[in-house]
Amino acid sequence: MATSSSAIDSILVENRVFPPSEEMVKNANISGMDAYKAMCAEADKDFEGFWGNLARKHVVWTKPFTRVLDGSNAPFYKWFDDGELNVSANCLDKHMGTPVENKTAIIFEADDGAVTKVTYKELLARVGQFANALKSRGIQKGDRVILYMPMTIEGVVAMQACARLGVIHSVVFGGFSAKALQDRIVDVGAVAVITANYQMRGGKEMPLKAIVDDAIALGGCESVKNVFVYERTKTACAMTAGRDHTFSEVLEGQSTECAPVPVNAEHPLYILYTSGSTGKPKGVQHSSGGYLLQAKLTMDWTFDLKPEDVFWCTADIGWVTGHSYVVYGPLAAGATEIVFEGIPTYPNAGRFWDMVQRHKCTVFYTAPTAIRSLIKASEADDKVHPKSYDLKSLRIIGSVGEPINPEAWVWYYNHVGGGRCPIVDTYWQTETGTHMINPLPGATPLVPGSCTLPLPGIYPAIVDETGEEMPNGKGGMLAYKKPWPSMIRTIWGDPERFKKTYFPPEMKGYYFAGDGAVRSEDRGYFRVTGRIDDVLNVSGHRLGTMEVESALVAKTDLVAEAAVVARPDDLTGEAICAFVVLKRPLPSDEEAKAIAKELRDWVAKEIGPIAKPKDIRFGENLPKTRSGKIMRRLLRSLAKGEAITQDTSTLENPQILEQLAHNN
Ligand code: WTA
Repeated sequence: MATSSSAIDSILVENRVFPPSEEMVKNANISGMDAYKAMCAEADKDFEGFWGNLARKHVVWTKPFTRVLDGSNAPFYKWFDDGELNVSANCLDKHMGTPVENKTAIIFEADDGAVTKVTYKELLARVGQFANALKSRGIQKGDRVILYMPMTIEGVVAMQACARLGVIHSVVFGGFSAKALQDRIVDVGAVAVITANYQMRGGKEMPLKAIVDDAIALGGCESVKNVFVYERTKTACAMTAGRDHTFSEVLEGQSTECAPVPVNAEHPLYILYTSGSTGKPKGVQHSSGGYLLQAKLTMDWTFDLKPEDVFWCTADIGWVTGHSYVVYGPLAAGATEIVFEGIPTYPNAGRFWDMVQRHKCTVFYTAPTAIRSLIKASEADDKVHPKSYDLKSLRIIGSVGEPINPEAWVWYYNHVGGGRCPIVDTYWQTETGTHMINPLPGATPLVPGSCTLPLPGIYPAIVDETGEEMPNGKGGMLAYKKPWPSMIRTIWGDPERFKKTYFPPEMKGYYFAGDGAVRSEDRGYFRVTGRIDDVLNVSGHRLGTMEVESALVAKTDLVAEAAVVARPDDLTGEAICAFVVLKRPLPSDEEAKAIAKELRDWVAKEIGPIAKPKDIRFGENLPKTRSGKIMRRLLRSLAKGEAITQDTSTLENPQILEQLAHNN
C-alpha cells in the first residue's frame, strides 16, 4: 500500500463553527443533533434492524426480503438478497396515482438556454417507450449496454429504460476518448451502445457518434450489435446500415407502456469505470436494492428534500454523482430537478446563478473546482458575481468530489448561500455509491473544510497501516468498519482485484477508502485530506497516475519512460505533472514545447482531454533509488517547485534534477 505522508500531514485549519438556523432545524427531516444521535444509536443497537426498517419503508419491493445482510462470503456482502424490485418502477411507477404524477420531474435546460419540462407521468411514458425499443432489438435482462451520451433528458431516459429491463448500463463520460470507450466496451462485453450524433457544449457542436465509430473500429467490439443514436442536433453523422439506428427510427410505433422487470436486490444495476492505482480503470459494480435505498435516503437526509424543492445537481451522468443525484436519487424521491446540458461559463460565468434565479432552485449541488473558477471569474467581472442575481430561493448548497478549501467554502457560504444556507460537504466515492460522511442541514454545526460526521448507519474510522484505530487529532487512513447497502459489490470480471484493493488483509476486514483523513480533537469531525494511493483528483475527476503513465509510454516512437505525480493547483485542486524520458537526446527549448504539445494531444487521444498533463518535464533519466524504484516523493517536490531535502546521494546523475525542474 503506497502512502504519501504529505497528504496525511496537510491538515487545513479553520475553526469557526456555523450552526444551522433555528428555522432550518425546526423544519428539517432530521431535526437537530439529538435526532441524528438517536438514529446513530438505533443503528448501533441493531444494525440490521436499522437498515431493514429503512429498506421496507423507502423501497417498493415486488417480493419482500427476509434477510437484511449476508456476510457469509465477505467482503462480497449481499443486502436484502432474497428480495425483488425494479429500480425504474421505484423512480417512476411508484409516483403514479399520487400528487407526484403530474409534478415536473425534469426541468431541462439546453446549452443554448432552451428549456423543456417533463412531468413524472410523461417521463414514465418516455422510459417505457425506450425500453420497448431496446426490447425490440433483443436486449434483455443481464445484458450490458454502454451509454456515451450528453446531459439530456434522453440520457436519463436511456438509463432508466435499462433499469426497467434489468439491463446493466455502463455510462462512459462524453469527454473520454475512443480508446477509453473501446476499453470499456470490451471489458463489459456490451451488446449495444447508446449515443447521440453530437453534443452541445459552450455553443460548440462536438461529435459523439463518430467517436463511437472510432472506438468500435479499434477492434474487439464484436459483441456490439446495435448502436442507438439520439439526434441531438440536425447535423448528419455516418450510420452503419443494420447496426446503427436513430432514436426516432427505433421509437416509432413503440408503445409507451412497458412492464418493469423485477430483479433480485443484488442484480447489478450498473457498472461504472473509475481510476485506481494501476493502469487499467476498474468497473465498479453496483446493486439494485441497496443502491437505490441509499440513493433515495440521502436525498431525504443530506438534502433534506421537501416536495416543493427544486433540486439541481450539476454533475454529468458520466460520473457517479450524476448516477446517484441526477438519475436515481431525485426521481426515487419524487423531486423536481434541473438537468443542465451546458457548461458553467457559457454564455458567461454567471450561468449557474442565472439558472438558480430563473428556475427558483432551492437545493444546489456542485463541485469545488466549479466554485473556484466562478470565484475567479466574478472577481474580474461584477456582472457574473452571485450578488448580481437573486439567489434567495436557495436553502441548501452542497459540495462534492474533492476537499473544499476553507476560502472557497466561505465564499460559497456568503455569496451563494447568502450566509443562510448550510453547505453540505459530501464525502463519498464511486465505490460507496452514495454519501457517507457529511453534515445534515438541520442538525450538524458546520466547520469549513470538514465533511463533519458520518450518516447514521455508516461506520468510518481512521486507522494506521495495521488497521489500528488512531486517536482524534492524528492523521491516518480512512476505512469503514461495517458494510453499507449501496457499497460496491465487486469489480466487474475481477473479484480478486476487488478484494485486494478494498479489503487488504492488514486492514482487519475494513473497507479501505484510499483517502487520508483526520478527526478533530474537539468534535471528532472528519477532514479528508486527499488520496494516499496513486490516484489523482483533477477538477474532481479521478485519474490514476499509472493510467496517464501507460498512455505516455504507449507513444513508443517518442517516450522511453514516464512518471506522473500530482501537484496542488489553485483552480483544479490537483494538476498532473509528467516527467518524461525521451527516446532521443534532450530537446532544445523550442523542440521541447512542440514535443510537450504532441504528448498532451496524445494523452487526450488515449484517455481524454481531462487527463492532459498540465506540466511536462524532460530529463535524460528519472531519479531512482539503488534498487531502481522511481523516487516519487522527490518528483512531487520537483513538481511543487520545492527545495529538494531528500537524500539524493544514490542518484547516478544528479544533473537530471535540474533538467526535470524545467517546465515545458
Ligand atoms: C475525493 C466522487 C474530500 C476523495 C463522489 C474520494 C472528496 C474521491 C470529497 C472519490 C469531499 C470526494 N471531500 N474529498 N467532499 N468527495 N472526494 O469516485 O479523494 O469520483 O476518494 O467520487 O474524491 O472520487 P469519485
